[in-house]
Amino acid sequence: MHILLMGPPGAGKGTQAANLVKEFTISHISTGDMFRAAIKAGTELGKQAKACIDAGNLVPDEITIGIVRERLSQDDCKKGFILDGFPRTVEQADALTEILSDLGLKLKSVLDVNVPSADLVERAVGRRICKSCGATYHIKFNPSKVEGVCDECGGELFQRPDDTEETMKNRLSVYDAQTKPLIDYYTKAGLYVEVDGRQEIGKVFADIVDILKD
Ligand code: AP5
Ligand code: MG
Ligand code: ZN
Repeated sequence: MHILLMGPPGAGKGTQAANLVKEFTISHISTGDMFRAAIKAGTELGKQAKACIDAGNLVPDEITIGIVRERLSQDDCKKGFILDGFPRTVEQADALTEILSDLGLKLKSVLDVNVPSADLVERAVGRRICKSCGATYHIKFNPSKVEGVCDECGGELFQRPDDTEETMKNRLSVYDAQTKPLIDYYTKAGLYVEVDGRQEIGKVFADIVDILKD
């Protein structure tokens, strides 16, 4: 099963993807996570991506398309993947269509986790992530049992540098300008399904599973 998970910044893509990979044993491919790993490792890719991410702007298409092309050609992607946060521009969507056709793969659905902008800033600013295992929490909506400590592995929780109110405003306007056109793109392709992301995490997950099992 090959699916896309769309949605504005902070909508819950990563949270849902983490549960979906357990349910369907497919690979989770998040371009944001790949860039953050490259920044941490201090690679050339990380250096190129850092300024864009910190400002809440998109990393240039040619860089992003290149890493996705390479990742999708790896063997584990044959059995299925969830692409989280790619594509984000029409150029990326066109490239993905070409990559999938080269690999002989077909998308099952494009799921758009829809949450009103007013809620997204609170979701991002309250997000906490485990330094060791990457598990995602929220100080109000999904708190860890002990403040600042991961339930899964005991690791330390941190805040993403781009999860400030100011950067979120830019991320949201970048989303409106560059990514929203993909709603029309995938509607025309007959793949678009909207998911109500305002509901609690478990309910959003149940809705997604229902759609995918259809
Ligand atoms: P990326 O890491 O993809 O960030 P994003 O799209 O802004 O999305 P987030 O990861 O912030 O949110 P999410 O939807 O995963 O929400 P989460 O589940 O964590 O990208 C970062 C940057 O990398 C971009 O700005 C760009 O610079 C660059 N980049 C990435 N991809 C690119 C591309 N294709 N092209 C160019 N540049 C690219 O949840 C958020 C919070 O809400 C958490 O605290 C969670 O616990 C909580 N929460 C989740 N669900 C619910 C719920 N139902 N109710 C209440 N709280 C909830
Ligand atoms: Mg994410
Ligand atoms: Zn952890």
